[in-house]
Amino acid sequence: MSTPTNKTPQTEADKKLFIKTWGCQMNAYDSHRMSDILAPLGYKTVDVPDDADMIILNTCHIREKATDKVFSDLGRLRPLKEKKEEQGKKMLMAVAGCVAQAEGDFILKRAPYVDMVFGPQTYHELPEMVAKAIGAFGDNRIVNTEFPTDSKFDKLPEEQQSQGVAAFLSIQEGCDKFCTFCVVPYTRGAEYSRTAMEIVDEAKRMVDNGSKEITLLGQNVNAFHGDGPDGSTWGLGRLIEEIDKINGLERIRYTTSHPRDMDDELIEAHAIEKLMPFLHLPVQSGSDKILEAMNRKHTADHYRDIIEKLRKVRPNLAFSSDFIVGFPGESEQDFEDTMQLIRDVNFASCYSFMYSARPGTPAANMQNLVHDKVSAERLQRLQALLNEQQRAFNLACIGETMPILLDRKGKRDGQLQGRSAYNQSVYVKANERLLSEVVDVKITEGFDKSLTGEVVTSESVLSAAE
Ligand code: SAH
Ligand code: SF4
Ligand code: F3S
Repeated sequence: MSTPTNKTPQTEADKKLFIKTWGCQMNAYDSHRMSDILAPLGYKTVDVPDDADMIILNTCHIREKATDKVFSDLGRLRPLKEKKEEQGKKMLMAVAGCVAQAEGDFILKRAPYVDMVFGPQTYHELPEMVAKAIGAFGDNRIVNTEFPTDSKFDKLPEEQQSQGVAAFLSIQEGCDKFCTFCVVPYTRGAEYSRTAMEIVDEAKRMVDNGSKEITLLGQNVNAFHGDGPDGSTWGLGRLIEEIDKINGLERIRYTTSHPRDMDDELIEAHAIEKLMPFLHLPVQSGSDKILEAMNRKHTADHYRDIIEKLRKVRPNLAFSSDFIVGFPGESEQDFEDTMQLIRDVNFASCYSFMYSARPGTPAANMQNLVHDKVSAERLQRLQALLNEQQRAFNLACIGETMPILLDRKGKRDGQLQGRSAYNQSVYVKANERLLSEVVDVKITEGFDKSLTGEVVTSESVLSAAE
């Protein structure tokens, strides 16, 4: 397939593109890139699917529930396509992302009105796929779930649109870790790192286009090992050092990381002020037996050691994590070990899930299953503890003055919403002129999931808002 170029494209009449995104931030980033690559074909992104010329569902396969949502959404969207066809027009229906990769043929069978199914590594081939599908009128549906030898990053055009003040940048894709519960190595393929300078250049362009915060993304972002300009291989710590030098960039984050790849260089990088003092470091379980069955290849104490090392480098570092409860073979003692790890670390926020057996993964064949009722009850206990820790963390912020990046309008009139350094949602009454600014906010109230505060008015804030 030919390479899309960055030259000013010849635009056709405007067509409406509706993209719905599930899953992780990698998918959110990919959705942006898909709309970038379709823009030269005349596609403009719209917020509602009703009259769209093309609908892309960018899907997630991580748990059973996530996959089910795709089929219920397809069913809901079908009448829109039929209505459009009655008017003699075409609505291209596409399923992208990880469900497309894992269940491409099944989707085509179960939803005959779907025109295109394509996996995460094929987005650079979208213009050709769309051209074929438009010509096909139903009988030549597109399925593309290859893992091409050429990387989509080399072929995608430069970003066309501003990614916003708080933006995402994919630096690494895929995963070679093969945790026994997880579909990602199968849906995203082998680990791949972009080159360091490609990433730094993209980050610079993002900052030129108004981004002040960049979150470096990867399924295993700290497994990053990109070619450096000096001929050596750079790890994530080295890359962050370089990105830190970009003028105008105020905040750096990275996600999602794996405990096994927290090397010393990366730990040291946490002294960099622009790197926000908040780290999402999934551990999944606090039981060594379960960690081994999950193929995580580290122990609970190893995780505790990393946290301790990181806290030495950055004493105010706050942590979040992911937990799975009810993994096959999890005993009450294993679960209690997880609760103890949570008590030891003390998290600022967390995600937790009931184990969901995924077809094709090694854990799906494991025996000694935990009964759903037991898992549900454990999940409740675990979430109660995590919520308590999150609430305590939020309440401890009351009275503090914290820099907040106001990145969006709040739900109420005259309200703006932003993020603290610790990734908390913060609501303030503030003039819209402060949108996209980092402002000092005095926290007045703390809740389970958010904070409210008042803008601390100073000369600098006022002049920034002029
Ligand atoms: N790369 C990340 C995780 C990506 S998936 C890491 O290694 O931690 C995001 C989270 O979904 C995982 O951390 C895990 O907690 C959860 N998850 C993944 N597969 C799951 C499954 N089969 N059942 C329940 N939760 C799962
Ligand atoms: Fe999945 Fe494990 Fe890879 Fe994370 S590290 S994406 S949980 S296989
Ligand atoms: Fe889901 Fe795929 Fe991300 S399975 S979590 S969208 S990598």
